[in-house]
Amino acid sequence: MKEHKVYFLGAGPGDPELLTRRAERILRDCSFVYIPPLYDEPFAELLDGKELFIPFEYYFADLIEMISAQLDKASVAFLVPGDQTFYSPFQSLIDELGDLSEVVPGVGTANAASALLKKTLDLPGVCSRVVLASPRTLGDGPDTPTMGDFAAPGVTLLIYMNNLPLVELVEQLRTGYGKDVPIALAHKVGLPEEELVLATLDTIVDRIGHRDYFNIDAPNLRPALTLILVGESLSANADPGWWDYRRDHIWKYREDH
Ligand SMILES: C[S@@+](CC[C@H](N)C(=O)[O-])C[C@H]1O[C@@H](n2cnc3c(N)ncnc32)[C@H](O)[C@@H]1O
Repeated sequence: MKEHKVYFLGAGPGDPELLTRRAERILRDCSFVYIPPLYDEPFAELLDGKELFIPFEYYFADLIEMISAQLDKASVAFLVPGDQTFYSPFQSLIDELGDLSEVVPGVGTANAASALLKKTLDLPGVCSRVVLASPRTLGDGPDTPTMGDFAAPGVTLLIYMNNLPLVELVEQLRTGYGKDVPIALAHKVGLPEEELVLATLDTIVDRIGHRDYFNIDAPNLRPALTLILVGESLSANADPGWWDYRRDHIWKYREDH
């Protein structure tokens, strides 16, 4: 039985300050670190002296063989973009490694984008559900849903890895919402080039112009670091009356307590 482990560390969207204390402590103890290219610069200090690998350069069986040899010497870390919870490419490795693997939670892009907007993504009376989806993973059969099928009044939609031209995406969303609603592009969140574009479905296409935030015209198919958020919650203000309502109906002890 090997004493070392393979840690899948939620590394956050790019800013090392968003690493949890637990992830940072574990990372310091790992000699071999697999990093998506995004992290080499911002995490340079934390990676100093470690042997680094880009996981996507290897085939699965070779990767498992390498990790197994590394585990004989020390623990291994994978920096997971954002967090393992949504759209992580590492699940097959975790399943294969079984008890040798441990997942450490982190700050997902959704959390970081919500902080940037200074908005909760559900809001009583405005938004009652949040849907996370990606047009990349919906498939392409005749009955495949479109992003418009998830869009509806009262829904905040988080769109990962968009691969649709913005005009087409906005058209689908406009049909689903049935009206103009706010849309935000959160680009390179947590990185020095961070940008937040907040507009509405009716104005976003003109606002963005020819800028390609989604690598649609890029020479490779890698998804861009842009999260799209859509829905009324992005610009609605919370009714202060809810504070007092909760105080009276939820937070106070029952009369008979
Ligand atoms: C493979 S998914 C990884 C999601 C990640 N597991 C998470 O929890 O945020 C990649 C997509 O996440 C979003 N994303 C990841 N990092 C981002 C960042 N720093 N800024 C904006 N969007 C980001 C983009 O939509 C990108 O196409």
